[in-house]
Amino acid sequence: MKFPDVLIAALLKANSLVFFTGAGISAESGISTFRGKGGIWNKMKPEELANFDAFMKKPDLVWEWYQYRRKIINETGPNPAHTAIAEFEKYYSDVSVVTQNVDNLHNRAGSKNVFELHGNIEKNYCVDCETHYSSPEITFSEKVPKCEKCGGLIRPDIVWFGEMLPQDVFINGDKAAARCDICFIIGTSAVVYPAAHIPITARDKGAYLVEINIEESNISDKVNCFLKGKAGVILPALLNEIMNKIKPQ
Ligand code: OAD
Ligand code: ZN
Repeated sequence: MKFPDVLIAALLKANSLVFFTGAGISAESGISTFRGKGGIWNKMKPEELANFDAFMKKPDLVWEWYQYRRKIINETGPNPAHTAIAEFEKYYSDVSVVTQNVDNLHNRAGSKNVFELHGNIEKNYCVDCETHYSSPEITFSEKVPKCEKCGGLIRPDIVWFGEMLPQDVFINGDKAAARCDICFIIGTSAVVYPAAHIPITARDKGAYLVEINIEESNISDKVNCFLKGKAGVILPALLNEIMNKIKPQ
Protein backbone atom coordinates (compact mmCIF):
# COMPACT_ATOMS: atom_id res chain seq x y z
CA MET A 1 0.00 0.00 0.00
CA LYS A 2 1.42 3.40 -0.98
CA PHE A 3 0.71 6.33 1.34
CA PRO A 4 1.14 10.02 0.41
CA ASP A 5 4.62 11.33 1.28
CA VAL A 6 3.13 14.27 3.19
CA LEU A 7 1.27 11.87 5.48
CA ILE A 8 4.40 9.88 6.27
CA ALA A 9 6.33 13.11 6.84
CA ALA A 10 3.60 14.35 9.20
CA LEU A 11 3.70 11.04 11.10
CA LEU A 12 7.48 11.18 11.46
CA LYS A 13 7.29 14.71 12.87
CA ALA A 14 4.28 14.25 15.19
CA ASN A 15 4.31 13.75 18.96
CA SER A 16 0.64 13.71 19.70
CA LEU A 17 -2.03 11.61 17.94
CA VAL A 18 -5.79 11.40 18.32
CA PHE A 19 -7.81 8.53 16.89
CA PHE A 20 -11.45 9.55 16.61
CA THR A 21 -13.40 6.39 15.90
CA GLY A 22 -16.93 5.27 15.07
CA ALA A 23 -18.87 2.10 14.39
CA GLY A 24 -16.96 1.40 11.14
CA ILE A 25 -13.80 0.46 13.06
CA SER A 26 -15.69 -2.44 14.65
CA ALA A 27 -17.40 -3.55 11.42
CA GLU A 28 -14.56 -5.99 10.72
CA SER A 29 -15.16 -7.53 14.16
CA GLY A 30 -18.66 -8.40 12.94
CA ILE A 31 -20.51 -5.62 14.77
CA SER A 32 -23.04 -3.83 12.56
CA THR A 33 -22.73 -0.09 11.95
CA PHE A 34 -25.69 2.25 12.52
CA ARG A 35 -25.99 3.86 9.09
CA GLY A 36 -25.30 2.77 5.53
CA LYS A 37 -25.52 -0.74 4.11
CA GLY A 38 -26.66 -3.24 6.77
CA GLY A 39 -26.86 -0.44 9.36
CA ILE A 40 -28.91 -1.02 12.51
CA TRP A 41 -30.91 2.17 12.08
CA ASN A 42 -32.21 0.94 8.70
CA LYS A 43 -34.08 -1.88 10.43
CA MET A 44 -34.69 -0.40 13.83
CA LYS A 45 -35.79 3.07 14.78
CA PRO A 46 -33.43 4.54 17.38
CA GLU A 47 -36.35 6.28 19.07
CA GLU A 48 -37.90 2.87 19.80
CA LEU A 49 -34.91 1.50 21.69
CA ALA A 50 -32.20 4.03 22.32
CA ASN A 51 -33.84 6.56 24.58
CA PHE A 52 -34.90 6.85 28.20
CA ASP A 53 -38.67 7.00 27.59
CA ALA A 54 -38.56 3.79 25.57
CA PHE A 55 -36.64 2.13 28.42
CA MET A 56 -39.14 3.26 31.07
CA LYS A 57 -42.09 2.13 28.93
CA LYS A 58 -40.66 -1.23 27.84
CA PRO A 59 -37.61 -1.91 30.02
CA ASP A 60 -37.47 -5.64 29.26
CA LEU A 61 -37.56 -5.07 25.51
CA VAL A 62 -34.79 -2.46 25.61
CA TRP A 63 -32.72 -4.57 28.03
CA GLU A 64 -33.10 -7.62 25.76
CA TRP A 65 -31.82 -5.59 22.82
CA TYR A 66 -28.70 -4.56 24.75
CA GLN A 67 -28.15 -8.12 25.97
CA TYR A 68 -28.26 -9.18 22.32
CA ARG A 69 -25.66 -6.52 21.46
CA ARG A 70 -23.48 -7.60 24.43
CA LYS A 71 -23.61 -11.20 23.28
CA ILE A 72 -22.34 -10.23 19.81
CA ILE A 73 -19.57 -8.14 21.39
CA ASN A 74 -18.59 -10.88 23.86
CA GLU A 75 -18.36 -13.42 21.06
CA THR A 76 -16.01 -11.27 19.03
CA GLY A 77 -12.90 -9.25 19.80
CA PRO A 78 -10.71 -6.39 18.62
CA ASN A 79 -9.67 -6.53 14.97
CA PRO A 80 -6.34 -5.46 13.40
CA ALA A 81 -7.52 -1.81 13.34
CA HIS A 82 -8.01 -1.68 17.14
CA THR A 83 -4.74 -3.54 17.68
CA ALA A 84 -2.76 -1.23 15.40
CA ILE A 85 -4.07 1.83 17.29
CA ALA A 86 -2.93 0.29 20.59
CA GLU A 87 0.48 -0.38 18.99
CA PHE A 88 0.87 3.27 17.96
CA GLU A 89 1.28 4.02 21.69
CA LYS A 90 4.70 2.41 21.54
CA TYR A 91 5.92 5.03 19.08
CA TYR A 92 4.27 8.24 20.32
CA SER A 93 4.27 9.77 23.79
CA ASP A 94 0.76 11.18 23.59
CA VAL A 95 -1.92 8.99 22.02
CA SER A 96 -5.63 9.37 22.74
CA VAL A 97 -8.53 7.36 21.43
CA VAL A 98 -11.76 9.34 21.38
CA THR A 99 -14.49 6.91 20.47
CA GLN A 100 -18.21 7.00 19.84
CA ASN A 101 -18.34 3.24 20.24
CA VAL A 102 -19.71 1.56 23.34
CA ASP A 103 -18.31 -1.90 22.49
CA ASN A 104 -15.22 -1.70 24.75
CA LEU A 105 -13.00 -3.06 21.96
CA HIS A 106 -10.35 -0.31 22.20
CA ASN A 107 -9.83 -1.20 25.87
CA ARG A 108 -9.73 -4.90 25.04
CA ALA A 109 -7.10 -4.18 22.36
CA GLY A 110 -4.92 -2.53 25.02
CA SER A 111 -5.32 1.19 24.28
CA LYS A 112 -4.64 3.02 27.54
CA ASN A 113 -6.09 6.44 26.97
CA VAL A 114 -9.66 5.91 25.77
CA PHE A 115 -12.38 8.55 25.98
CA GLU A 116 -15.75 6.88 25.54
CA LEU A 117 -18.05 9.70 24.48
CA HIS A 118 -21.17 7.51 24.32
CA GLY A 119 -20.47 5.26 27.31
CA ASN A 120 -19.68 1.56 27.55
CA ILE A 121 -22.10 -1.33 27.10
CA GLU A 122 -20.28 -3.39 29.75
CA LYS A 123 -21.24 -0.84 32.38
CA ASN A 124 -24.68 -0.24 33.90
CA TYR A 125 -26.26 1.83 36.62
CA CYS A 126 -29.47 2.09 38.61
CA VAL A 127 -31.84 4.74 37.26
CA ASP A 128 -32.91 5.66 40.83
CA CYS A 129 -29.82 5.62 43.07
CA GLU A 130 -27.13 5.54 40.34
CA THR A 131 -25.24 2.60 41.87
CA HIS A 132 -22.92 1.22 39.18
CA TYR A 133 -22.86 -2.41 38.10
CA SER A 134 -20.48 -3.87 35.54
CA SER A 135 -21.99 -6.49 33.25
CA PRO A 136 -20.40 -9.61 34.77
CA GLU A 137 -22.01 -8.70 38.13
CA ILE A 138 -25.42 -8.95 36.52
CA THR A 139 -27.01 -12.23 35.61
CA PHE A 140 -27.36 -12.46 31.88
CA SER A 141 -31.11 -12.74 32.10
CA GLU A 142 -33.30 -11.45 29.34
CA LYS A 143 -35.36 -9.39 31.77
CA VAL A 144 -34.07 -6.11 33.11
CA PRO A 145 -32.29 -6.61 36.45
CA LYS A 146 -33.19 -4.61 39.58
CA CYS A 147 -30.86 -2.70 41.85
CA GLU A 148 -29.74 -4.63 44.95
CA LYS A 149 -29.86 -1.46 47.04
CA CYS A 150 -33.12 0.18 46.08
CA GLY A 151 -34.94 -2.10 43.63
CA GLY A 152 -34.67 0.47 40.81
CA LEU A 153 -34.25 -0.56 37.18
CA ILE A 154 -30.69 -1.07 35.95
CA ARG A 155 -29.89 0.54 32.62
CA PRO A 156 -26.84 0.33 30.38
CA ASP A 157 -24.32 3.15 30.93
CA ILE A 158 -24.57 4.47 27.42
CA VAL A 159 -25.69 7.80 26.07
CA TRP A 160 -29.15 7.58 24.59
CA PHE A 161 -30.75 10.01 22.16
CA GLY A 162 -31.65 13.22 23.92
CA GLU A 163 -29.10 12.66 26.72
CA MET A 164 -25.99 14.64 27.57
CA LEU A 165 -22.56 13.22 26.92
CA PRO A 166 -20.47 12.67 30.06
CA GLN A 167 -19.04 16.17 30.30
CA ASP A 168 -15.61 15.34 31.77
CA VAL A 169 -15.03 12.72 29.07
CA PHE A 170 -16.04 15.11 26.30
CA ILE A 171 -13.93 17.97 27.69
CA ASN A 172 -10.84 15.78 28.04
CA GLY A 173 -11.35 14.26 24.58
CA ASP A 174 -11.69 17.75 23.17
CA LYS A 175 -8.50 18.85 24.95
CA ALA A 176 -6.63 15.93 23.42
CA ALA A 177 -7.96 17.01 20.01
CA ALA A 178 -6.86 20.61 20.64
CA ARG A 179 -3.24 19.61 21.30
CA CYS A 180 -2.76 16.81 18.77
CA ASP A 181 -0.56 17.03 15.68
CA ILE A 182 -2.55 14.47 13.71
CA CYS A 183 -6.20 13.54 14.12
CA PHE A 184 -7.34 10.31 12.50
CA ILE A 185 -11.07 10.02 11.78
CA ILE A 186 -11.92 6.38 11.36
CA GLY A 187 -15.14 4.59 10.43
CA THR A 188 -17.58 7.31 11.33
CA SER A 189 -20.26 9.06 9.33
CA ALA A 190 -19.42 12.15 11.49
CA VAL A 191 -23.03 13.27 11.64
CA VAL A 192 -23.73 12.87 15.37
CA TYR A 193 -22.94 15.96 17.45
CA PRO A 194 -21.38 16.96 19.76
CA ALA A 195 -19.06 13.97 19.18
CA ALA A 196 -18.38 15.03 15.58
CA HIS A 197 -16.99 18.29 16.90
CA ILE A 198 -13.80 16.54 18.09
CA PRO A 199 -12.06 16.51 14.67
CA ILE A 200 -13.25 20.09 14.05
CA THR A 201 -11.47 21.17 17.24
CA ALA A 202 -8.33 19.42 16.01
CA ARG A 203 -8.55 21.11 12.62
CA ASP A 204 -9.20 24.55 14.12
CA LYS A 205 -6.06 24.17 16.26
CA GLY A 206 -3.98 23.31 13.20
CA ALA A 207 -3.82 19.51 13.32
CA TYR A 208 -3.39 17.43 10.18
CA LEU A 209 -6.59 15.44 9.54
CA VAL A 210 -6.48 11.92 8.12
CA GLU A 211 -9.69 10.07 7.39
CA ILE A 212 -9.98 6.30 6.94
CA ASN A 213 -13.32 5.11 5.60
CA ILE A 214 -14.70 2.81 2.94
CA GLU A 215 -16.67 5.76 1.59
CA GLU A 216 -16.82 9.53 1.95
CA SER A 217 -18.45 10.91 5.09
CA ASN A 218 -19.80 14.18 6.36
CA ILE A 219 -16.28 15.38 7.16
CA SER A 220 -14.38 14.21 4.07
CA ASP A 221 -14.30 17.67 2.49
CA LYS A 222 -12.50 19.04 5.57
CA VAL A 223 -9.69 16.49 5.89
CA ASN A 224 -6.11 16.81 4.60
CA CYS A 225 -5.84 13.19 3.56
CA PHE A 226 -8.57 10.69 2.74
CA LEU A 227 -7.57 7.02 2.76
CA LYS A 228 -10.29 4.96 1.17
CA GLY A 229 -10.57 1.41 2.43
CA LYS A 230 -11.04 -0.82 5.44
CA ALA A 231 -9.61 0.36 8.74
CA GLY A 232 -8.38 -3.17 9.51
CA VAL A 233 -6.23 -3.11 6.37
CA ILE A 234 -5.07 0.51 6.27
CA LEU A 235 -4.08 1.02 9.93
CA PRO A 236 -1.75 -2.00 10.20
CA ALA A 237 -0.15 -0.98 6.88
CA LEU A 238 0.38 2.56 8.15
CA LEU A 239 1.85 1.30 11.42
CA ASN A 240 4.19 -0.91 9.43
CA GLU A 241 5.30 2.08 7.41
CA ILE A 242 6.47 4.08 10.45
CA MET A 243 7.64 1.20 12.69
CA ASN A 244 11.07 0.98 11.16
CA LYS A 245 11.54 4.73 11.06
CA ILE A 246 10.65 5.73 14.65
CA LYS A 247 12.26 4.44 17.82
CA PRO A 248 9.79 2.95 20.30
CA GLN A 249 9.23 5.19 23.36
P1 OAD B 1 -22.27 5.12 11.46
O1 OAD B 1 -22.97 3.81 11.35
O2 OAD B 1 -23.07 6.35 11.31
O3 OAD B 1 -21.09 5.19 10.39
C1 OAD B 1 -20.19 4.12 10.19
C2 OAD B 1 -19.12 4.56 9.19
O4 OAD B 1 -18.15 3.54 9.09
C3 OAD B 1 -19.63 4.84 7.78
O5 OAD B 1 -19.12 6.10 7.33
C4 OAD B 1 -19.03 3.68 6.97
O6 OAD B 1 -18.73 4.07 5.62
C5 OAD B 1 -17.77 3.37 7.75
N1 OAD B 1 -17.25 2.00 7.63
C6 OAD B 1 -17.94 0.84 7.57
N2 OAD B 1 -17.09 -0.22 7.55
C7 OAD B 1 -15.83 0.30 7.61
C8 OAD B 1 -14.51 -0.30 7.64
N3 OAD B 1 -14.33 -1.63 7.59
N4 OAD B 1 -13.44 0.54 7.71
C9 OAD B 1 -13.62 1.89 7.75
N5 OAD B 1 -14.82 2.49 7.72
C10 OAD B 1 -15.91 1.71 7.66
O7 OAD B 1 -21.49 5.07 12.88
P2 OAD B 1 -21.01 6.29 13.80
O8 OAD B 1 -20.49 7.41 13.00
O9 OAD B 1 -20.13 5.68 14.84
O10 OAD B 1 -24.72 6.78 18.95
O11 OAD B 1 -22.39 6.72 14.48
C11 OAD B 1 -22.37 7.74 15.44
C12 OAD B 1 -23.36 7.46 16.54
O12 OAD B 1 -24.67 7.25 15.99
C13 OAD B 1 -23.10 6.20 17.33
O13 OAD B 1 -22.15 6.38 18.37
C14 OAD B 1 -24.44 5.86 17.89
C15 OAD B 1 -25.31 6.15 16.67
O14 OAD B 1 -26.61 6.49 16.93
C16 OAD B 1 -25.15 6.33 20.15
O15 OAD B 1 -25.36 5.17 20.37
C17 OAD B 1 -25.35 7.40 21.17
ZN1 ZN C 1 -30.65 1.66 43.07
